[in-house]
Amino acid sequence: MERTFIAIKPDGVQRGLIGKIITRIEEKGFKITGLKMLQVSDEQAAAHYAEHVGKGFYKDLVKFITSSPIVAMVVEGENAVTSMRQLMGKTNPAAAEIGTIRGDFSQEMSYNTIHGSDSPESAEREIAIYFKPEEICENWHTMFELLKAKLES
Ligand code: RTP
Ligand code: MG
Repeated sequence: MERTFIAIKPDGVQRGLIGKIITRIEEKGFKITGLKMLQVSDEQAAAHYAEHVGKGFYKDLVKFITSSPIVAMVVEGENAVTSMRQLMGKTNPAAAEIGTIRGDFSQEMSYNTIHGSDSPESAEREIAIYFKPEEICENWHTMFELLKAKLES
């Protein structure tokens, strides 16, 4: 099963959207195996956004992501990376479809409420920035997983 790194960005936390966003992720059928609120350090932000160093928006992005707490998650499911990005919608909320998280909850590119990894490799890199291995709970099964295992045995 694929996993991805998801973060509810400071605007989502400040606007009281933690519950609604987690509900969307759970309702899609994803399994959350890591979950915590944290204040992103300068070091974590630099590691997370290393690919954007030198771009015009980099400084503001780091300033924003370190400005107040985020909710970090490890999310597991079928094609978790692509499927979560579909659920999130386009990077620019103005272009994101209604029904997606960004389409429904955000207006501006710089405050687009949620982050999701862009590849399985990015996911593993980003998970390691925010989670220790022992903070991820992978050794349990949902009722649906148990039902599927029974049906497919
Ligand atoms: P994310 O990493 O946050 O899930 O979003 P993404 O892959 O769709 O977008 P990415 O290109 O990785 O950019 C990271 C975040 O930087 C902000 N951004 N601002 N002003 C701009 O032109 C600009 N471009 C990107 C966005 O908040 C984006 O989510
Ligand atoms: Mg990205």
